[in-house]
Amino acid sequence: MQRIKELPKRIGEEVVLRGWLMNARSSGKIAFLQVRDGSGVVQAVASRAELSERAWEDVQKITQESALRLTGTVSEDPRSPSGVEIHLLDLAVEHLSEEFPITKKEHGTGFLMDHRHLWLRSSRQRAALKVRSEVSQAIRDFHYERDFVLIDSPILTPAACEGTSTLFETDYFGDQAYLSQSGQLYLEPAAAVFGKVYCFGPTFRAEKSKTRRHLMEFWMVEPEVAFLEFAGLCDLAEEFISYLVARVLDRCAEELKVLERETSKLEAATSPFPRITYTEAIETLQKSAVSIEWGEDFGGDDETILAEQFDRPVLVTHYPTALKAFYMEPDPDNPELALALDVLAPEGYGEIIGGSQRIHDHDLLKRRLEEHELPLEAFQWYLDVRRYGTFPHSGFGMGIERFVAWVCGLKHLRETIPYPRMLNKIYP
Ligand code: 4AD
Ligand code: MG
Repeated sequence: MQRIKELPKRIGEEVVLRGWLMNARSSGKIAFLQVRDGSGVVQAVASRAELSERAWEDVQKITQESALRLTGTVSEDPRSPSGVEIHLLDLAVEHLSEEFPITKKEHGTGFLMDHRHLWLRSSRQRAALKVRSEVSQAIRDFHYERDFVLIDSPILTPAACEGTSTLFETDYFGDQAYLSQSGQLYLEPAAAVFGKVYCFGPTFRAEKSKTRRHLMEFWMVEPEVAFLEFAGLCDLAEEFISYLVARVLDRCAEELKVLERETSKLEAATSPFPRITYTEAIETLQKSAVSIEWGEDFGGDDETILAEQFDRPVLVTHYPTALKAFYMEPDPDNPELALALDVLAPEGYGEIIGGSQRIHDHDLLKRRLEEHELPLEAFQWYLDVRRYGTFPHSGFGMGIERFVAWVCGLKHLRETIPYPRMLNKIYP
């Protein structure tokens, strides 16, 4: 069996293909079939004169999404996106599809989401998931090339990492357990084992608000590095984002075209990225007539305004400690501030990275856990990292759906993950 992607190497040969019919049009004696096999799309030309009567009858009756086996010869066709065309010699209908619910006409989002398992077959959805797959591979390559060790953090956890308001609870043999909000806490002990580690897996947040930037289940990549301090962390985040963007531009040109993504906006995302402090960001917002006071957190619209000032991602640093998680190292010059970093994507895509230097002093960390009213018993193991050869360290997390949304130019995260989990919605 031949894959469509490989057809340009088979010009003049007879091949057998298996795939699904996307579309067919017929003009009496000749029919044009658009066929997809997962690796690409090709047009097969069927002519009544060259086919058996049975095969020609099948061509007339096949429906969208029918599974087909095609035999034909490959010829060059510079006008087609695949560069080739198939001249059909025979066709077998492996399954005549029932009437496919998703057609060329416009469908509402609710309808498409209920048919997500079928919607995935559409060209834009295929393109977005292909970019996602490339981004996942690039994430692994980035870390592998730099000697990071992959540490798979657990999904079932006994304690919260990112605040207690977004926890999914479950019963663990009579004890309470939670789905992981972040693998970070488990990476920190591993940083004392390997120096440079990362995790990449599903994370969960029971976000009770409905926004285009939040999913209940998303995939987060988190590097954590021993002896890396805040300035180095900012450099790592910048290097990481520009690596991933370059990789998508290099390997996903076709997908970006299908998505009608303006690539000039992505080409700008090279080092150095602008860096501003939280305090400067507040001043910028106030100058833009936003009513926000120092000490308040940014909303989605505020992030959009801030990002609009720049043509590439912007690093926002030194947030008030009170706004951030319990584990962040205070700024030695002003302990009211945390050595915290957010990276905001351009064009209104918002925060794609959140990270910080971590507190490595045992007593300070214990105090913070108490201030945040977190149960000390559940964090003894985490405090242990500060008892046996403690060391400065830093890391960040990036939700890959936010990144993919930005590079693909997709307004809503629901199209960046095969089966999105959203507020009150878990089907299919
Ligand atoms: O800023 P967050 O909450 O940071 C952490 O979880 C840290 N423990 C990471 C670390 O330092 N190792 O989340 C990190 C990133 C965000 O910047 C965003 O990209 C993504 O995770 N994210 C979400 N993506 C989709 N839906 C949600 N509900 C998300 N919440 C966070
Ligand atoms: Mg954050």
